[in-house]
Amino acid sequence: IREDPESVGEYIANYVCKRINDFNPSPERPFVLGLPTGSSPVPTYKALINLVKTGRLSFRNVITFNMDEYVGLPRDHPESYHSFMFRELFSHVDIPPENVNILDGNADDLVSECNDYERRIKQYGGVELFLAGIGEDGHIAFNEPGSSLTSRTRIKTLAYGTILANARFFNNDISAVPHMALTVGVQTVLDSREVVVVVTGQRKALAIAKAIEEGVNHLWTLSALQMHPWALIVVDEDATLEL
Ligand code: GLP
Repeated sequence: IREDPESVGEYIANYVCKRINDFNPSPERPFVLGLPTGSSPVPTYKALINLVKTGRLSFRNVITFNMDEYVGLPRDHPESYHSFMFRELFSHVDIPPENVNILDGNADDLVSECNDYERRIKQYGGVELFLAGIGEDGHIAFNEPGSSLTSRTRIKTLAYGTILANARFFNNDISAVPHMALTVGVQTVLDSREVVVVVTGQRKALAIAKAIEEGVNHLWTLSALQMHPWALIVVDEDATLEL
């Protein structure tokens, strides 16, 4: 537990930085990092950029896999997760563009796109550290309530609550929010060697209580991390209000 979103971001950025540096990645043995979108990871990304600018961290030998992407939103739309990631992180660090993997929500064959994503993750030896965020309904990536806990990368219809929550990024126009997304599955996240989750704000307090204090439950998919041997949830004070 840290005091506020900025302290959470600093803590996670330093943690990820140390993990990457201790791993000592090389072109032959890159560090495979899973990444989230949303407003919660923004302070973490700011702190990571600062670590790169001050010479304490490099993304040269880091391969990234993003968690999810909207279906049907043009790649250059400001709210696509492609645009978000380049705006908030990739354009400010030394990552080679070919090291970036983000699901293509405009692929002709969305099923093959998802299967191919799983194959690419395996090709790199799996994800070393999956950084994640959650929705108000406790979804991890876009694994909405009711998702199978053994799910893998696939097409997912968004819950109405998620569409409402994300309308703030689309000038509060609910009809502009895509209704479908491609997302890594709960099992894809569980397969990574380590998971670090960033959760800030009172809106997430119920999800945190459900996922930590109640049993493993497919209606709060974050709770699946109870089965992971190395999972860390970093919250601010506001997100602890229901604990
Ligand atoms: C979307 C993403 C999730 C993310 C969530 C959190 O739903 N698909 O991966 O965790 O947003 O958003 P925010 O941090 O803005 O609350």
